[in-house]
Amino acid sequence: MAKTSDQYFLYDGIPFPCIAHNEESLDFARNMFQVCDDDVYSITYPKSGTTWMQELLTLIYSNGDQTLSRSVPNWERVPWIEQVSAQMYVPKLTSPRLITSHLPLQLFPKSFFTSKAKVIYTMRNPKDVCVSLYHYCQLVLFLENPQDFDVFLSSFLEGDVLLGSWFDHVQSWLGTKDQVNILFQTYEELLQDLRGSVVRICNFLGKELDEAAIDSVVENATFKTMKDNKMTNYSLVPSDFMDHEKGSFLRKGISGDWKNQFTEAQSERFDQIYQEKMKEMKGLESMFTWDKP
Ligand code: A3P
Repeated sequence: MAKTSDQYFLYDGIPFPCIAHNEESLDFARNMFQVCDDDVYSITYPKSGTTWMQELLTLIYSNGDQTLSRSVPNWERVPWIEQVSAQMYVPKLTSPRLITSHLPLQLFPKSFFTSKAKVIYTMRNPKDVCVSLYHYCQLVLFLENPQDFDVFLSSFLEGDVLLGSWFDHVQSWLGTKDQVNILFQTYEELLQDLRGSVVRICNFLGKELDEAAIDSVVENATFKTMKDNKMTNYSLVPSDFMDHEKGSFLRKGISGDWKNQFTEAQSERFDQIYQEKMKEMKGLESMFTWDKP
């Protein structure tokens, strides 16, 4: 294991924040963790809609009732398997377990590949991911604080940010589309049609919710409702870890915010690499429902 800085260490070549992970927690997730057939995994590259999917899954499995989503923090009710805290939260889950992960495919629990567990993989326009991550890194005090967006953009394009390259992450999971029980969801589809997306997710999960329950899931998973829910908006995180004065975790909740951040030259630089990487993902472009860069 190599330490890249005080904030990150490399595991299998991928930078992980020291604050929440160590070699044992990642080894455990990959080699020892026992996936159950009725588990539901929400997988994302960071800043792609992780918290939103945690809220949606909680509400769907509560039939629209908000008691759980209003009383237990998101990281406890849909915990990350790769984090050190998994040892504390995962054993408390009841079936069907709802579990979060940022792991790329090659680091995901081996036992998943012989199970019938379901995965929802949520993706977002990588330009918006990059902007959201840039602001997030300024908010949290346990990550390198990027002073300059241009430098951060280069790190993002090189995969030298937490969880490595967006391109590699997405490509690794898209490659499973005909092999495992997986639903691909985009952040942009959630924004455009939250109700339609909830129905689609319910169909995938085999959850039959009546109209009133679906309405309640939708109402309780809007940006505004989640921003007001202290079990979801990260306001419970102590200020030693998150500088709440600097901004909010639920920051803007829109698509296309990159246009407010990128210069034309930065956008062109991004597009060039995007087009190059997309060649490796030929035939899968239709899954990317955001505006073409
Ligand atoms: P922004 O920083 O662009 O606002 P993650 O949970 O994967 O870390 O992603 C966080 C991003 O998702 C943030 O994006 C946050 O505002 C956005 N988000 C979370 N819940 C949302 C919701 N209900 N509607 C729209 N965006 C949401």
